[in-house]
Amino acid sequence: MNDPAIAVDGLTKQFRGGTRALDGLSLRVSRGGIYALLGPNGAGKTTLIRILATLLRPDGGTALVAGHDVVAEAGRVRQLIGLAGQFAAVDDHLTGRENITMIGRLYGLTRRAATSRAAEILTRIGLDTAADRQVKTYSGGMRRRIDLAASLIGRPQVLFLDEPTTGVDPASRHDLWSLVRDLAADGTTVLLTTQYLDEADQLADRIAVIDHGRLLTEGTATELKDRTGAAVVELDLPPHQLDAAMTALQPLAPRRDRDRILLPAPDGPLTLRHAMGLLDQADLTPTDIALHGPTLDDVFLALTRHNTSRSARSTA
Ligand SMILES: Nc1ncnc2c1ncn2[C@@H]1O[C@H](COP(=O)(O)OP(=O)(O)OP(=O)(O)O)[C@@H](O)[C@H]1O
Ligand SMILES: [Mg+2]
Repeated sequence: MNDPAIAVDGLTKQFRGGTRALDGLSLRVSRGGIYALLGPNGAGKTTLIRILATLLRPDGGTALVAGHDVVAEAGRVRQLIGLAGQFAAVDDHLTGRENITMIGRLYGLTRRAATSRAAEILTRIGLDTAADRQVKTYSGGMRRRIDLAASLIGRPQVLFLDEPTTGVDPASRHDLWSLVRDLAADGTTVLLTTQYLDEADQLADRIAVIDHGRLLTEGTATELKDRTGAAVVELDLPPHQLDAAMTALQPLAPRRDRDRILLPAPDGPLTLRHAMGLLDQADLTPTDIALHGPTLDDVFLALTRHNTSRSARSTA
């Protein structure tokens, strides 16, 4: 029972044309709970999920899901998993209920069992009022939910969600989050990918940051933030002063985030004082100032920027 839900060891995958999507990736996801994969575009997240879901064969290394090898025991793995995200299995011309019932039948349920399981799942994901409309009339958020519903028919032990809330409005996002939390509370292990750092921060028990098919770091959100260490100074300035401020602050490695300038603040208040001195010399005055601990965005930027410069050779 202490086996991990997912055990990945030295996984490699190279696509034709030379892209090394996975480059010796290893990670463990323990049973229950929510695990997030973070990484910039092209990091290898979807490739990993497709391998774990038996849709793609790795070139090397091993991957076990619920103790079963994804290559040698692909059929067994398929019975234990659910997958939702970029590979929507639903038919636009059918209603939500028809889709879910049909997938239940494909799973070998009797007509009666499929009907009642569909009703149960549609209620659970909050689609019961829209259940009898064609899926083509659904909004983006409703589509994400019907995808998720389809992945739940088989009562998966391990659920893969590839960008479950991309393009979903904030209210629907929160609904989806609470649904995912409920599933995890019932004992399902959830592995999700996301482009949204706040999603990983709020939803995931543990987070892996990957880039160029390799694991950069892994841990709870708090551990990742603590490891990055440095606090951050945030400065708001009038828009017409931003360029001049970026120049004045060069010694402190500033980074621009819309109308705001962010500075790594290894020396906390001393960095803040240094920044204020530089701005003062340039006759610039911030409209707002803050000093705070690192966010997951800071962690992500620090890790993936560093990795980009260090590993540019690997694409050769
Ligand atoms: N079928 C394919 N053929 C060739 N190259 C591929 C294929 N699928 C993915 N790749 C490449 O493998 C790398 C990893 O892609 P992957 O889709 O796993 O990234 P990702 O982390 O999911 O990115 P995103 O955040 O954009 O979804 C990328 O360089 C991509 O171009
Ligand atoms: Mg992807």
